Amino acid sequence: MYILGIETSCDETAAAVVKDGTQIITNIVASSQKIHQKYGGIVPEIAARKQIDFITPVVKEALAEIPHEEIDALAVTVGPGLIGSLLVGVEFAKTLSYLWQKPIIPVNHLIGHIYANFLIQSSPSTSSGSRVKSGEKLKVKDATNPKTVELPALVLIVSGGHTELVLMKDHGVFENIGGTRDDAAGEAFDKAARLLNLGYPGGPAIQKAAEKGNPKAFNLPRPLINSPDFDFSFSGLKTALYQTVQQITPTFVPLSGTSAGRPAKKDDATSQETSDLAASFQQAAIDCLVHKTTKAAQKYEVMSVLLAGGVAANKGLREGLGKAIQEKLPAISFFMPPFELCTDNATCIAAAAYFNYKPKPWSKIKAEPGLDI
Ligand code: KG4
Ligand code: ZN
Repeated sequence: MYILGIETSCDETAAAVVKDGTQIITNIVASSQKIHQKYGGIVPEIAARKQIDFITPVVKEALAEIPHEEIDALAVTVGPGLIGSLLVGVEFAKTLSYLWQKPIIPVNHLIGHIYANFLIQSSPSTSSGSRVKSGEKLKVKDATNPKTVELPALVLIVSGGHTELVLMKDHGVFENIGGTRDDAAGEAFDKAARLLNLGYPGGPAIQKAAEKGNPKAFNLPRPLINSPDFDFSFSGLKTALYQTVQQITPTFVPLSGTSAGRPAKKDDATSQETSDLAASFQQAAIDCLVHKTTKAAQKYEVMSVLLAGGVAANKGLREGLGKAIQEKLPAISFFMPPFELCTDNATCIAAAAYFNYKPKPWSKIKAEPGLDI
């Protein structure tokens, strides 16, 4: 079965064709991220306008390999996300469903992220970790699927807007067992990067700066790490970073320019203090995520642990969680998507629709910005 997935929940416009829920035929992603960089964060109105510009060429390109007559169904992200952006993909997909007389499946964006783990891993030559840009196709020629995900699974979803621990009992049977009480993990990375003048999006910028830093240089808190629940909190960590930056002023350059849109100075990124702060912040966030996920996996006696969402692209988190599961819970299999499928894309939306095949009449589908799991 060929499903055409469409994803427009934020600043990415994505379309993909996936065969039988696992095999990527095409994966096209266009992004307005560069425009938002100068504002230090996403401007919803601009994101929505760019969605309108990108949607037709992106969908056309996704259909380059398989003509639309051979597509069996459409899948579209209905939420959560930015209303203006969501509406573009939802209305576009509904129109195609009506025109082509094909079934359409509404998909929760967060559930979509989970299904990046069910897609066949592309060969090393195609999963080099670089983002798939508009105009490039991710073709899986010699795909191998080493392991399949066994359920029940525990999923850590870490994105720009969400941080959730979800028990996946079966396809379509999800239970939320914990989550952030304030900022999402990705949001914390973005805010920390802004504070350190490292630019937007913050996750990759913090990771890069942290490579040259000492994660033990600053003693930042690990909020809620020993609480008996499976919740997270990142706003206190962000405040602690801010206070640490203030303490080491005036020698520390980035404090002078935390306003949105100030381009990173050349000195900022190379400053040892910046690198040490980035590394210490990153390690504190990772420690919280790894500790609670491992504890929950043990309690719920799952077969697999899955990492999902944009922050799943973080090298330290991937290594840290993988190592903790291997050492403490060796009977549990650990899965994480290839780098290019961690951040927003439409392959996982098509995969989620395949495994949760519940078409709805197109006229009943609507954008739901506040949708949860
Ligand atoms: O899933 P996603 O593409 O969009 C949402 O659904 O929110 O996630 C975007 C988030 C951003 O906050 C970005 O800073 C973060 O993922 N991110 C990372 C990395 N790459 C992207 N965070 C930490 N390390 C990374 N390498
Ligand atoms: Zn996302």
